[in-house]
Amino acid sequence: MIVSDLNSALQPYLEATAQGQLFVLVDENTHAKCMPILATALADMPYMTITIPAGEEHKTLATVEQIWHALYEHHATRDALLINLGGGMLTDLGGFAAATFMRGLRYVNIPTSLLAMVDASSGGKTGFNYLGVKNMIGCFAQPEQTLIYLPLLDTLPAEQWLSGYAEMLKHGLLDTDAHWNTLLALDVNDTKCSIPSALLADNLAVKERIVAADPTEKSLRKLLNFGHTIGHAIEEAYHADGRSVPHGYCVLWGMVAELYLSVLCLGMDKQVLTQLSHLMLAYYGRPACNCKERQRLVEWMMHDKKNKQAGQISFSLLRAIGDGVVDQTISREQLDEALEYLFSL
Ligand code: GLY
Repeated sequence: MIVSDLNSALQPYLEATAQGQLFVLVDENTHAKCMPILATALADMPYMTITIPAGEEHKTLATVEQIWHALYEHHATRDALLINLGGGMLTDLGGFAAATFMRGLRYVNIPTSLLAMVDASSGGKTGFNYLGVKNMIGCFAQPEQTLIYLPLLDTLPAEQWLSGYAEMLKHGLLDTDAHWNTLLALDVNDTKCSIPSALLADNLAVKERIVAADPTEKSLRKLLNFGHTIGHAIEEAYHADGRSVPHGYCVLWGMVAELYLSVLCLGMDKQVLTQLSHLMLAYYGRPACNCKERQRLVEWMMHDKKNKQAGQISFSLLRAIGDGVVDQTISREQLDEALEYLFSL
């Protein structure tokens, strides 16, 4: 929920928490940039800060253990409350640590990046990367609440703004032509532009509706993975080479290729693919892994969590804006054609 006063929004959760049982999880960046805002909102309530390293390379079991260890050392009980103050990596990891410590603590997410606000911090997906595969280990565990406080975005770097915008575009594609066109009309050159709160609320509502209908991703929720089958594979290829890349950039590249598949296999309007391809070239650039890495990308896709059968990749594709279909399998030739389109743009 979007809140204008963090202190009053937190009150119900603080009142239900005993003295000495409030924990705040931050990384080095959010500790410096966002903790002062949260500390003011927490007023006199004493809390223990747990600081983890920032960056996707630390989304590991070792960091989860660090959080468990800190909770143990500071005598957290099952009545403890963990506040996760950070981007998607931190809220995924903190959510998992909370969901598993003593079989489950309450947790509240306060996302600090646009990407975490519009996607990662709501819906209850928690976890960490394992054997180089994104979010391979995890569980569904809903936060008590996700509090979206827009002033936290004030220090967000431009590429992180673009990363979140990509997930917003995904929600637009899953919703209506009007929503999609409103998102395209945003001034992308002005990455400090404050997204109108009504647009943000409409965007969040798309995810909320889908998660409410299918919280544990048996079917419909797979639509929220549009762009992620190919996007995650690109992201994993970057990480395997020791290069960092914002998650939303990979999602955008994945959406371009998966829109191509949607046009090819389901008759999706080609104009939408053209619009997204132009936007990609203008603001995100091309993925910096070349066509030779195709086989490697396909191998990563074989580990995608949506796959139903070993050796077969399942895609969520679009027949039209707002008309998505899950569990689509395609031929290797069609996949190669889509990757060829993406890499030769
Ligand atoms: N990020 C996609 C989902 O929450 O299902």
